[in-house]
Formats: sequence, C-alpha cells, structure tokens
Amino acid sequence: MIKKLGIPKEVKKDEGRVSLIPQHITQFTGLADIFVETEAGLGSGFADKDYEAAGAKIVSTAQELYEASEIICKVKEPQTEEFEMLNSTHVIFGYLHLASNLSLTKTLLDKKLTGIATEMIMDGKEYPLLIPMSKIAGNLAVQKGMQFLEYSSQGKGILLASISGEKNSKVTVVGCGEVGRSSIHKSIQIGASVTAIDLNEDILEDLKNKYGENITTLLSGTDEAKSAIRSADLVIGAVLLPGRKPPIVITEEDINHMEKGTVVVDVAIDQGGCVEGVNSNTHSEPFEIRDGVIISAIANLPGAVPRTSSVELSKNLQKYVDNLLVENWFEEYKNDKNLSPSLQIHNGLLLSEEVADSLSLTLSKLI
Ligand SMILES: NC(=O)c1ccc[n+]([C@@H]2O[C@H](COP(=O)([O-])OP(=O)(O)OC[C@H]3O[C@@H](n4cnc5c(N)ncnc54)[C@H](O)[C@@H]3O)[C@@H](O)[C@H]2O)c1
Repeated sequence: MIKKLGIPKEVKKDEGRVSLIPQHITQFTGLADIFVETEAGLGSGFADKDYEAAGAKIVSTAQELYEASEIICKVKEPQTEEFEMLNSTHVIFGYLHLASNLSLTKTLLDKKLTGIATEMIMDGKEYPLLIPMSKIAGNLAVQKGMQFLEYSSQGKGILLASISGEKNSKVTVVGCGEVGRSSIHKSIQIGASVTAIDLNEDILEDLKNKYGENITTLLSGTDEAKSAIRSADLVIGAVLLPGRKPPIVITEEDINHMEKGTVVVDVAIDQGGCVEGVNSNTHSEPFEIRDGVIISAIANLPGAVPRTSSVELSKNLQKYVDNLLVENWFEEYKNDKNLSPSLQIHNGLLLSEEVADSLSLTLSKLI
C-alpha cells in the first residue's frame, strides 16, 4: 500500500531547517504520497514550487499535514503546539532527544504513536544522522563563542584568532567526539591555544598525533582538566552518553572560578546539558550571564545555518525514510541492530532503556 509521508514546517524557535529537500524526495515517487506544509523549505532556500516540481502536494496548514500523513518526517522533536495534532496512526521520525524531555515522552506514550529518534540510528558504532549536525554544531560553537567574547556581549573583549602568530586566546573543549573535534579543528585553524579533554585515551592520543604541539590533551576529571576549564576564554561542552542525559562536566564551582566575560557553550543541551544548572537558550536570546560568565546553550545550533544543514541532513536521511516506505518496515526497525535503538516509542510502550533510566520511567519490550 502506498504510504503517506508528511514534511511539516518546523516550529521550534529560530529553526530554519527542513527534513527533506526537493531533490531528495523524487526517489519516493510511487512509494509514497508526499505532503509538504507551505513554506516548510523557505528557511533553507526551497520554495513550495520546488517541492511541487519534485512531486509533492503542498498543504496550507500544519493541521492538514498531520491529518493527511502517516509518517511525519521532522527535524526537531514535536513542540507543545504540535502535540494536539498527533495521533496513534503517526510515525514521528526526527531528532527526539527524549532523555531530557519528560513531557514529550509522556505525550508520545499517551498518543500511542510510534516515535523514531533519528539521532539513535546507528551504522556499526557510528550515529550517521547525528554526525553531520555535530560537525556543523562544533563549528558554530566556536563561531558563537567568538561573537559572545565581544565587548558588546559583555564578553572579555578577546579575539580568538591569532593576529601576529602568537596564541593569545585559550579554548578548552570537553568531549572530543564529532562536535568536539570540529570545534578543536576550527580553534586550531584560527590560532587559539587549545586544550582537549575526554575520558577516552585513544581519542586524546589521536588528537595529539594529529595536532602535535598545537594541542594539550587531558583526561577528564583530573585536576589539570579542571584547571584548563576554569582558565579558558571559551569552554565548549560536547560530551555524550548515547541516548542518555549527559554527565555534568562543567560545575557551578568551575563557573565561580572563571574570569568575568568567559564564554561557556553547552552543545550537549539537546540531551539535557553538561553545565551544572544550565538553562536552554535560543538563537535570538542566545545566552544568560551568571556571575559575569556568559553561558550559551542552544539546542538547535545547526538551525542557524539551515541552507547548509538541511542539505546535509536530507542527504543522510533519505535511505532511512526509504526503509519506512516498505510494507514490513516495523519488523525491519525492530530486528535490525542498527535501527532498533531508534525505535523508542510504540503504541504506549517505552522501548529505550537509556530514556527509561534517564527519566525514571518503566521500560517495555516488544514481543
Ligand atoms: N546543540 C546542538 O545543536 C547539537 C548538535 C549536534 C550535537 N549535539 C550534542 O553534542 C553532544 C556531542 O555530540 P557528538 O556527536 O560529538 O558525540 P560523540 O559521541 O561523537 O562524542 C562525545 C564525546 O564525549 C566523550 N565523553 C563522554 N563522557 C565524558 C566525560 N565525562 N568527560 C569528557 N568526555 C566525555 C566521549 O568519550 C566522546 O568522545 C551530544 O550531546 C549531542 O547530542 C548538539
């Protein structure tokens, strides 16, 4: 039976991305009727007519889209204003980040729909739908950090980039996965003095081999690591325990020891944050100032550059959407070890151990 695939306009604040771009939906012709909410692609540079030319039908409201579609292909998790449009026939496919969001998790369970958390889709040991956004977020963390260090943001008034060849600024990155490595690369490129902190000694060794004297590598939790966090101009928190709430790696005490005007960017906020007591910010209100320290925690950093991000996201999403359009898709998601971690909610059951642990909810198993 032909499936009904819906692409809504994202409603999270300042979110300009769209899940699938026109050139990537043509392959679904014949497998799905595709509905696109009007202006869904506008922030990413794609007009309704581009989607129509690719074979989609434009609908004028979100309500119409949710009524017409079975598979809702989103970028970000459903927002409160979308809750009432959800029903048990829906498969919600997008970054859900449930481990930090009890009300969303309960709503998806109550609605008895199916929730697929795209950030948990695996390819061996990798997370192919998280990686491209993490690379973009890692770059943006430095870009935002540079901006918040400016005098007008009440930052230290320091330029991270080196002017005369000397390193005049310090960047400390905690968590050296995809986000962290992108931040490190960009910071080294512009001539900052960079310290990388991780729990994984192999990652630290690789970084040392790659960047030599341009980087200091430290094991997380050591006194040296603490000191590097407290003395940096820009601290980037980018730790991840897949599917779970991240550990707190930048404490209140660390912040108390920082110089006024220091900038802390908590990239792990989408999973709940790795800075003690952090609150979520938006692109239009991007930070709060605590004891003179600027703390920024934007859960949709790649949303700042939707033209770049949507193309990357859509390119990587295609084959997983394709998987949903076959008759036995559910069995495939349930039984494939790369796909099953993403199948987190089904018919009132919570299927993710990590989410159940993080939110103290009951874990269920499919029989
Ligand atoms: N805010 C955004 O827009 C945005 C975008 C993309 C990713 N993210 C988030 O950024 C975070 C990092 O993502 P990633 O793709 O780089 O993950 P990743 O798995 O590639 O890397 C995470 C790293 O954290 C390290 N780590 C775990 N616990 C640690 C600890 N206690 N101390 C030091 N290091 C520790 C791991 O060893 C690993 O190297 C995740 O929380 C992810 O959800 C946010």
